[in-house]
Order: sequence, then C-alpha cells, then structure tokens
Amino acid sequence: MGLLSLAGKIALITGGSSGIGKAIAKRFVEEGAQVVIASRNAAPTTAETVTDHHSTNITYAKLDVGRPKEWYMLLGKIPDVDVLVNCAGITNNKLLIRQQNEDIEQVVSTNLTGAIYGCKFVGKKMLSRRNGCIINVSSLLATRAVVGTAVYAATKAGVLGLTNSLALEYGGYGVRVNAILPGYIATSMTEDLDKEKLIESIPLKRFGTPEEVADAAAFLAKNGYANDCILNLAGGLSG
Ligand SMILES: NC(=O)c1ccc[n+]([C@@H]2O[C@H](COP(=O)([O-])OP(=O)(O)OC[C@H]3O[C@@H](n4cnc5c(N)ncnc54)[C@H](OP(=O)(O)O)[C@@H]3O)[C@@H](O)[C@H]2O)c1
Repeated sequence: MGLLSLAGKIALITGGSSGIGKAIAKRFVEEGAQVVIASRNAAPTTAETVTDHHSTNITYAKLDVGRPKEWYMLLGKIPDVDVLVNCAGITNNKLLIRQQNEDIEQVVSTNLTGAIYGCKFVGKKMLSRRNGCIINVSSLLATRAVVGTAVYAATKAGVLGLTNSLALEYGGYGVRVNAILPGYIATSMTEDLDKEKLIESIPLKRFGTPEEVADAAAFLAKNGYANDCILNLAGGLSG
C-alpha cells in the first residue's frame, strides 16, 4: 500500500461543517478528494467558505450521526466512501451529578454511538471492497482527567476502544482504523474556556489550530501502514 493519494477519493466527514471537521474537509479537497460533509444542519451557515476554490468538490448532507435511519438514507445516496472521518461531537461539561439525563444521552449518542454507527455502516461497505480508511476523532480527555468532563471523556475513551478493536477486526480486510486525540484546539467548542489559564498548562503555550489536526487526518488517510495509529496532538499537554 505505502503512501496513498487522496486525489479522486471520496471522503465522508461527519461534523464537517465547523471547526476541526471543516478544516479536514478543506485539506482533503485541496488534496484532490471529493468530500461529503454531513451534519445535522445540511444547509451550511458558516460553512460556505470551507474552500473558495474547490467548492464543486464538496457536497453537504443532513445527518444526525446517532440515528441509524439517517445513515441508511445518506449511504444510499453516495457512492462508495474511501475515507470516513467520524468528527461530529458535542460537549456538555458539568459535574456529573448536575447533568440532565437527556444531555448525557445526547453526548453519548453523538460522540460514541454516532462513531460506532459510522464504523458499522460505512465499514461494512469498505469491507466488501477490501479497502478503506476510518479516522475517529477522539480527545486527549479520553486519557487525561479533567473535572467536569466525565461523560465526554467516557465517550472519547469509548471511541479509542472502538478504534483499537476495529483496527484488529477490519485490518485483515484492508480497512484501516485510526484515531486522533486532539488537545485544546481553537474552535467554537473551546471558545468559552478560560484560555489564558489553560495555556499555562500547555508546554507549547497555545491552543492548536483546526488545520494542525487536519494535517494529522491527512497523514492517517494517506499512510497505508497506519492502522490502530493513535495520534496525540496536544502541544505536549499529555506529557
Ligand atoms: N476543539 C477541541 O479542543 C477538541 C479537542 C478534542 C477533540 N475534539 C473533537 O473534535 C470534534 C470536532 O470538534 P470541534 O471543536 O470542531 O467542534 P465544533 O466546531 O462545535 O463542530 C462540531 C461539529 O459536529 C457537528 N455535529 C454535532 N452534533 C452532531 C450530530 N448529532 N450529528 C452530526 N453532526 C453533528 C456540528 O454540526 P451541526 O451542529 O450542524 O450538527 C459541527 O459540524 C468533536 O468530536 C470534538 O469532540 C475537539
């Protein structure tokens, strides 16, 4: 397999309308991929500018990743997916005893169940073609404890387990499964955090950019030997 090209490949990016997913979509299009961006709000609001130059290579689709029926409908409409990026995610950070049950369910449904469905439904098609790559966007919080993030951390640790297990289960059939563990990245998800205080703890003294995470996704998509490759991208915070 060796080093692969994204040119002409079809990439499905959940949560591609914003932040990290949007940067991955832009990077993949720049590398010649046809990208389908899937999120709950199919009509882009701030996403029109995913790229100014390659917009014909982007399609927007409506998908709530936690709903299997919506996956069936979407996958019935798009041709075989070469690269799936499970990037859709939400937070609801509070002490566990203060979390509403509905909010817990929503976080689990989006971050964990959604990634499992993506791996199942898209993975099934990839397995039949004996080719494909899945990139799961986990989080540094899967492995690093922060007060108020228990539910989110549990979902992201689940995504790591999903990745480890499927790299074994799918790997023998030519389907690679990898994960990225971003630390603090400057997106709408982190805009309300106390940035000044947090960067004190980050060795590189800054938040990462969505483009830096997109670079990791491009590496995982193109390196044919990357399977169960867990890329930590946290500016040294994990150390
Ligand atoms: N920012 C960070 O510091 C950081 C660090 C570690 C990991 N991450 C992970 O990186 C991923 C992207 O985060 P971000 O920072 O880029 O956040 P963001 O800017 O808020 O983007 C989240 C994306 O997920 C989509 N989404 C949310 N719920 C969805 C659902 N049920 N079905 C489909 N799409 C859904 C949103 O679109 P709609 O609202 O239209 O559905 C949006 O496109 C998440 O998985 C997050 O947990 C982020």
